[in-house]
Parts: sequence; C-alpha cells; structure tokens
Amino acid sequence: MPNGRNRLARRVKLTDKHIVTRMMDIAAGLPDVIKLGRGDPDLDTPEHIVRAGQEALASGATHYTHPMGLSELRQAIADNIATHGGARYEPEDIVVTPGGQQAMFIIALGLLDPGDEVLIPCPGYNPYLQAAELTEATLVSIRTTMATNFTLTAELVREHVTPRSKVLILINPGNPTGTVIPPDEIARICEVAREHDLIVVSDEIYARLTYDDHHAQPVSVLPGMQERTITLSGMSKAYAMTGWRVGYFAGPSDLMPALAEIHHAFAISTAAVSQHAALAALTGPQGCVEEIRCTFDERRRVLCDGLTEMGIPFAKPQGAFYVYAKVAETGVKATEFCERLLREGQVMIFPGRIYGDYTDDYARLSMTQPVPRIQEALARMAAVVAAIHQEHSVA
Ligand SMILES: Cc1ncc(COP(=O)(O)O)c(C=O)c1O
Repeated sequence: MPNGRNRLARRVKLTDKHIVTRMMDIAAGLPDVIKLGRGDPDLDTPEHIVRAGQEALASGATHYTHPMGLSELRQAIADNIATHGGARYEPEDIVVTPGGQQAMFIIALGLLDPGDEVLIPCPGYNPYLQAAELTEATLVSIRTTMATNFTLTAELVREHVTPRSKVLILINPGNPTGTVIPPDEIARICEVAREHDLIVVSDEIYARLTYDDHHAQPVSVLPGMQERTITLSGMSKAYAMTGWRVGYFAGPSDLMPALAEIHHAFAISTAAVSQHAALAALTGPQGCVEEIRCTFDERRRVLCDGLTEMGIPFAKPQGAFYVYAKVAETGVKATEFCERLLREGQVMIFPGRIYGDYTDDYARLSMTQPVPRIQEALARMAAVVAAIHQEHSVA
C-alpha cells in the first residue's frame, strides 16, 4: 500500500483471496483430489452440440455477432422459454451473454443505484451478492433455514420489504441448497412483488434439473409478472456446456435496450462459435437433457445415502446438483471441516459461508463426479469424520 493509500475502490469488499481460490491453491499441491466443489460437472457436452460448434468454426463463425446474440438463437431461446412454461418473449427482449454469470452484473449495473435494496435469499448464489455490492446497493439477506428445507416463502419476503426495496432475486432451484420452491409459494411471492412494485430477477438455470415430483415454476408467465421479471438462464447446466460460456436474460421491453448496451460495452458479443453450439443444443434432440438429469439423480441418491450413513443431516435436494449438508454436526465448524477434508482426505467441498451462510454449519457438495468417485469421496469423508470424533472423545 504505497503512501498508506488504499488503492482499491471503497466499494470493493473482498480485498484478500476468496475462500475458493485458497482451496484451489491447497488442492493444486495435493495428489488425486476428488473435486465436489465447483458447479462444473464432469459430463461432456453432447456430441451433436460439439459437432455444431466445429462446423460453425469451419464455416467462418469467427467474428463478432449481433451484440444481443444471433437472431436464430434468440428465437430458439424464446421458443424454449415458452415450451417450458415461461412467458412468450420476443427475440428483441433477449440478450445472449458469456454465461448467466455476466448477466447478473449487467442487470445489477443497469437496475441498482446506491441505497436501493436488493432482497437476496440466504444462503444464496454468491455472485448476486458481489454484483449488488459493486453497485453499492444495500443487500437485504432473507435467511432461510433447514427447518423448511431452506425454502423462500412469501411471508419471509414480506417481512424484509421496505419502501427502498427494488429487486428480488429468486434462484429456483436453489444453489447451494438444491431447494425447489413449490409453485403455489412462487405465486404468493409474486403477489408480494406486485404489491411492492419489485423487479424479480428469476434465475432459472437449473429449472430442467428437478427430481421426484418437484417442478420449478417459471415466474414470467404468472399474472402481471412479465413486465417486472428478468428471466436469467443459460446452457451450462442442462446441456453440460459450462466451458462454452453461453447464458442469457430476457426481460421487459422498456429495460432491455439499456441492459443490452451495458452487455455490448462489456463483451461486444458472446463468442460466435458458442452461440452456434447453443443453437444446436436448443433446436436439436432433447434426450440429452433427460440423460443428464437422470445421471444427477442417481448421484444424488448415492450422496444422500452416504451422508445419512455418516449421521450428517442435509437439506433434501429437490433440484440442481448440490447437497447442502450440516457438516458441523461432526463437531467442527464447516470452514474447518472443508479444509480438513481437503488436506486429510483430498476431497474438495465448499463451506456455506461462501453463500452468505452466517452459521458456518453447512457445506455444499456438488454431484460433479461419477458414482464410483462419489463413493470414494464418501469413504474418505467418513475417515475424516471418524478422526474428528476420535479427537473429540480423547479431548
Ligand atoms: C444459480 C446460478 N445461476 C447462474 C450461474 C451461472 O452459470 P453460467 O455463467 O455458467 O451460465 C450459476 C453457476 O453456477 C448458478 O449456480
């Protein structure tokens, strides 16, 4: 810090390495780490999608595209949203972004002034917090608990609304909890949004990945909601396309030109090759999505059974591909547990603190490895848990 001056802007809250970066650094020096940390599945992008990308490159898709994205892709996204129960959007009201992640920052920069309040479920996907922080908006965390499987309710939203509330973030299915908010609860939350004139950012990126009889209700189609909803999603999860970096957001016509210009300034356009692959994903055979969903469903059962055997309680994962487990039940706080599990068991999972969890009791396990590797991870975890119990009984 030359001259004792803080050279970072005041709005930058995280001034040291993020916990994830620290864990990645530790893992880099260890052999055979089983990575159940990041939300990046081991599954490869289905072949026909990869082929479409290769063909696009061979036929010259090496340039910028329309800033908002290829018009055929925006049409396919509009059709896809409607097919899966969302509102009917016009392609002019859709922006294709380099991942849903970037869309969060575009939306935050476009909608939030300092002092505006953003309602965010807690625990919740952390980049939403970072995006709101960068705009100097005020974060209002809505705490959910294990007692209700971390389900956000209309009542909770209502308790946190003030005249300064502007945006409500809904992540359904949830990350890190895997919770699916029941459709009738979503309808009640939307009533609160209408009453208090909130804009809802509805993150539906895991909507195609739900289990048992759970169903993630799209928000945009509910009465009076399309005009106040920005639907955010992407190709990463349902089509195993994390590395292609294609996401999108769709919203009301009065907001989209300004938001599209922010995106333009950030990225010019999303990579052409990736957009062609995304088009093939959305317009090609859809069996691959069901295959991916079934793969996660099987892994989900294995993980849940293993945790139950270890006596570690967890939220019932109803969607997405995470299990949110109360690892503090072992006797040590979650951050310490995760670090020990990494160093002693070479298994990487993430502490809930990353997702705003104030208890430091929980950790997120991603279903991002095949069943035999998950079984191996569970065995290693059981050994670390046994070591912790042993220390505690001696102490
Ligand atoms: C809830 C949620 N939304 C959005 C994203 C962003 O994904 P991508 O940028 O790969 O589209 C993620 C990634 O993990 C996520 O968990």
